[in-house]
Amino acid sequence: MEYIELAPALSARGCVRLPGSKSISNRTLLLAALAEGRTEIRDLLSSDDVDRMLEALAALGVQWSREAGSDHYIVDGVGGAFPVKSAKLFLGNAGTAFRPLTAALALSGGEYELSGVPRMHERPIGDLIDGLAQIGARIKYLGNGGFPPLAVHPGEIRPGGVVKIRGDVSSQFLTALLMALPLTGEETAIEVVGELISKPYIAITLALMERFGVRVKRDGWARFVIPGGARYCSPGRIFVEGDASSASYFLAAGAIGGGPVRVEGVGADSIQGDVRFAEALAQIGAQVEAGESWIEARAPEVGRLKAFDMDLNHIPDAAMTLAITALFADGPCRLTNIASWRVKETDRISAMATELRKVGAEVEEGADYLRIVPPVALRYAEIDTYDDHRMAMCFALISLGGKGVRINDPKCVNKTFPGFFDTFASVCSPVPVIAIDGPSASGKGTVAALVADALGYRYLDSGSIYRIVALAAMRAGIPLDAETDIARLAVTLPASFEHGRVLLGEDDVSDVIRGEECSVGASKVAALPAVRAALVTRQRNYRVGPGLVADGRDMGSVIFPDATVKIFLTATAEVRAERRYKQLIEKGLPANMDSLLRDLRERDARDSGRQVAPLQKTPDAVLLDTSGMSIGQAVDFVLDQVR
Ligand code: DC
Repeated sequence: MEYIELAPALSARGCVRLPGSKSISNRTLLLAALAEGRTEIRDLLSSDDVDRMLEALAALGVQWSREAGSDHYIVDGVGGAFPVKSAKLFLGNAGTAFRPLTAALALSGGEYELSGVPRMHERPIGDLIDGLAQIGARIKYLGNGGFPPLAVHPGEIRPGGVVKIRGDVSSQFLTALLMALPLTGEETAIEVVGELISKPYIAITLALMERFGVRVKRDGWARFVIPGGARYCSPGRIFVEGDASSASYFLAAGAIGGGPVRVEGVGADSIQGDVRFAEALAQIGAQVEAGESWIEARAPEVGRLKAFDMDLNHIPDAAMTLAITALFADGPCRLTNIASWRVKETDRISAMATELRKVGAEVEEGADYLRIVPPVALRYAEIDTYDDHRMAMCFALISLGGKGVRINDPKCVNKTFPGFFDTFASVCSPVPVIAIDGPSASGKGTVAALVADALGYRYLDSGSIYRIVALAAMRAGIPLDAETDIARLAVTLPASFEHGRVLLGEDDVSDVIRGEECSVGASKVAALPAVRAALVTRQRNYRVGPGLVADGRDMGSVIFPDATVKIFLTATAEVRAERRYKQLIEKGLPANMDSLLRDLRERDARDSGRQVAPLQKTPDAVLLDTSGMSIGQAVDFVLDQVR
């Protein structure tokens, strides 16, 4: 399973140019295709769902082209029904392509098959098919009744009259009908049965149809009339707004992580309902400002974000971001009227509840609501994303809670926001890590501890963790080459570091782990890949604000590859031997220069030659040769690098 590790962040601040809106991109493409004339579409979203629509349009005989190196497209409209009368379309998991194309193809008088990924075949479409059947469309289910895949046959279309459609499962059914019905040329009324959900998405549909010359009359949200003789005409050039749902992750980052974080591409006058996410943030205490084409959010002036109980029917997608924001609120939160989550890319209510529990929240899940009790402190977790871009994107915000987070299958964000994680990282300030490595007796431990003290950072002596593992294994009678057993032991090892002492359970082992037996043992267990892997998360969890100094072999390469500063601290073997000699004499222990030097040279060779995590300076590490330096000078050198 592919994953991405997000480092814990101290704060979020910056400015983000949003990718184009998915809802607007796919609606605009379809309308441009059905319209008379050529449409130049600027800032179209590049994403999987939009690619599915573009492929489908090409297969249906619509000519389009992309301006090289840009997000600008030219679409030559076909001025009515699609010219290709027989096609098989694969539409992935793109609801915004599947539903409207089904309606438009039902009125195109051809033989078409529409299918998608398995999840698409679990997302209901029966209400739309029933609505289309009322005007004579002939659509058959190729799998389960009420669900894709579908076969569309030429129907005997009887335009005019009234089409009734349910509005309480997905607003995309109404969107699909609204966009397709002008193809009939007759006045047709649509009556919505049940309470219409996600009304702002219908507002987007109506606004775009109007840009293409078709003005729908409406009576509240219950009845819509498409005028007779309506035809889509190209508006010439059309700009796609930035994606307001995508904006939610960055605005929430500003509200949680201090801010300000500004998004560009949507503003106060946006046609997208999800801009109202900003209002929701303001209601819970965030400071929000907006201009014509930007919105900005920052943390509350005083205190934390406030607990909330909100009806979120009007912003179903951005509401997922509020579910994560709830973790940072000052009390239990309720998100209500979100039943549509159950038929989205995944069952989002259930997925959200499952993953929120992993980070320590207490979650109550209802048919159409979630109640979230924020934990006292978030836990590091490995988050599953259910092939749902929004699960991946909103859980990135967890990294602002002081612990890192692993997001599984991060590429699912390509559905609407390729590059999301880079953009997100660009506004986050990760907890700084100073990684210090070097050969034995180079003084790296002493320097690292002093640097940590000077900066007020935490200090991780990773060597001592391998030493404790070796000790625990020896005490449990596990042979030091029993890789699986030792790896298992390493995961649950009750090791802690308190006031400069090292504890194994209740037992103070600070001195015993420094002994010869543990040194030899540590170098054996440290050579076992499974043991190293088992200790990765434990070591990463030391990264907490305000910062960490981490000393050891793979700190800058494996554990903290994004470390702020990497130092390779060394000294000649002679100097190191001399230092060790002095230490031993000071402690009143026997010492011999020649044998110390020989031992060091042998150990250097073994360490740099070993297969697993060999001692090597990584290319991005700064070399610090302390042969002619005092400890104080070495510490100052590192502090200079940090500054
Ligand atoms: O730094 P030290 O001498 O306390 O380390 C003990 C052993 O563990 C030594 O053989 C190097 C190894 N080690 C490692 O492989 N990776 C680390 N990050 C730290 C130590």
